[in-house]
Amino acid sequence: MSKASDLKRIEQLRAEIRRHDELYYRNAEPEISDFDYDGLKRELADLEAANPELPMEASPTQAVGDDRVEGFESYRHRLPMQSLDNTYSKDEFVAFVARVEKGLEIENAHFTVEPKIDGVAVSLTYEQGELVRAVTRGNGIEGDDVTANARFIESLPGSLQGDFHPDLIEIRGEIFMHVEEFERLNAERREAGLEQFKNPRNLAAGTIKMLDREEVAKRKLDIVLYGLGDCRPAVVSSQIEYRKQLVLWGLPVVERFWEVEGAEGAWSAVEELDEVRGGFAFPTDGAVVKLDSFSQQDALGATSKAPRWAIAVKFAAEQAETVLERITIQVGRTGTLTPVAELQPVQLAGTTVSRATLHNQEEMARKDVRVGDTVVVEKAGEIIPAVVRVVLEKRPEESASFVFPERCPACGTEVSKIEGEVAVRCLNSECPDQVRGRLEHFASRQCLDIEGLGEAVVDQLVARKIVSNISDIYGLEYEDMLALDKFAEKSARNLLAAIEASKGVELWRLLHGLGIPQVGASAAKDLAKALGGVRELSEASVERLVEIDGIGEKTASGIVAYFGDERNKTVVDALFAAGMNPKAPERPSEADAIFAGKTFVITGTLPTMKRDEAKALVESKGGKVAGSVSKKTDFLVAGEAAGSKLTKAESLGVTVVDEAELLKMSAD
Ligand code: IVH
Repeated sequence: MSKASDLKRIEQLRAEIRRHDELYYRNAEPEISDFDYDGLKRELADLEAANPELPMEASPTQAVGDDRVEGFESYRHRLPMQSLDNTYSKDEFVAFVARVEKGLEIENAHFTVEPKIDGVAVSLTYEQGELVRAVTRGNGIEGDDVTANARFIESLPGSLQGDFHPDLIEIRGEIFMHVEEFERLNAERREAGLEQFKNPRNLAAGTIKMLDREEVAKRKLDIVLYGLGDCRPAVVSSQIEYRKQLVLWGLPVVERFWEVEGAEGAWSAVEELDEVRGGFAFPTDGAVVKLDSFSQQDALGATSKAPRWAIAVKFAAEQAETVLERITIQVGRTGTLTPVAELQPVQLAGTTVSRATLHNQEEMARKDVRVGDTVVVEKAGEIIPAVVRVVLEKRPEESASFVFPERCPACGTEVSKIEGEVAVRCLNSECPDQVRGRLEHFASRQCLDIEGLGEAVVDQLVARKIVSNISDIYGLEYEDMLALDKFAEKSARNLLAAIEASKGVELWRLLHGLGIPQVGASAAKDLAKALGGVRELSEASVERLVEIDGIGEKTASGIVAYFGDERNKTVVDALFAAGMNPKAPERPSEADAIFAGKTFVITGTLPTMKRDEAKALVESKGGKVAGSVSKKTDFLVAGEAAGSKLTKAESLGVTVVDEAELLKMSAD
């Protein structure tokens, strides 16, 4: 491949992987299987290795994802929480063992093999045997403090048993949900007409990050512990000893664990694990093979991201072959055309699969999927099944490449390919499929969360032309509801009450629900916090928007374009006319708002405060914290080793203060 095309692909992959990281870590709503995700990462790592002159800091191959969300305190891990390298192949695994043995100049290294739990990573700190903190992995350096939620986990002891405890220990493990509990909660939701959770991992991740304590208490989570962070003083010297110690302290550990020697020994254990994993309490998506001795682990060390002494061997998701009968095109709420494979029904991982996503035009072209082909489908972690590849040997003699439609199948409008995007879109905002999609999104759990306004109800309301945009929901009457299938007095009243109640939602939910391009839940939260109202958002310029933490150029232009469209303005006005009254996040009172209208930039290492703390202090006094210095910056708070920002601030004549001065100003 040429350098130019490598570069283009690298950029595409980085953007794509970042998007999937956000979906998986922050939103707990992944779109693709782990296998496909790992494939994208592998392709990127290979391209980056072939182009070593390119800057790497910005690459998702250099970091773990970030699970931190609004509403939790950040807490810095004493030792970073790393990720693991992974492989799906025996050859690569054998090469890993060879590297370890070569690095240590030994043969038949001792390893432990244990399940890889598909849950949410967490680090517990026990001081003098008492649980003081539970923190998510976050970005590996600092995570969200979820102690209050973790205390609801029944199997997690608040104090370690016995009287032999280190002064301080970080114990790492995985929070997960039992399949039975997952099914129980989903059955309850089905009865209430609510959207279903896709798999136990997403539900566990969503639950541990809930701000509603009562709801957390109702959902049963569980935990297993396997890893060690900081420990003062050190008390064990190998994986095996550590596991025994965890048991003595009364902590839950993985139920099966193998002690093995060399590559062959380890591989047999991996295979055995694959056979028995169906019986484990937790979802298991692989095996983790670790060098047993801590001194050997230390001798090998780690890369910026993962230890050199461990590897995850992942089990590929279950796959099945079937015939692709037709390709249909779905039109989403933003007008994106998604190709869907209509399949001859086939049994896969316990369910019958008759449809699978083909992702987008580019993916389809890459796999050259054709009608009549025999394809391999896969379902990973109960996510929507996907077509993995075509079995070319079984391709019928006469077959033709699929021609992607030039007109929207729902409304007939000519479709457009937008520069820099993979998606092909229908740009007609009145397209019935888009209208349906927008309504479903608006009412969904991550937005206005209107109970009872799910897919089936929206379909009917749109088909009967009772509603054609989101504001029409607020004009619905009792009689409209009674006319719907399966609606009786009670369900109609409940839905009306839920619609009424949604007028008082938190502002970010409304912003997310509007369906502004690029504005997902986390951007909506950033916007709500910074601007405090829909009117403020609609009047903000691109320049103002990019000053907000978390908002980039693309999102900013998406927002301005959205409010520049008269039709959107009409809908927003109608929402407010109907009585929409969203709750803005709390703002500091006038008296506290001594930094109102002032923009700060914080740089370097401050003597006592963490940067997040300084930021919170400025914000609590009504000030804003921006990421870069410009003419609009009022103060630069500079600590040790302040670099280019300090130089720039000085050249622009921005007032530079240190931590002590900041504290003094805040106290005035
Ligand atoms: S050991 C230095 N053991 O998988 C990292 N991790 O994909 C040591 N995981 O970040 C991690 N089960 O969150 C380890 N038995 C196990 C695990 C496990 C699940 C998670 C963990 C890790 C991620 C890497």
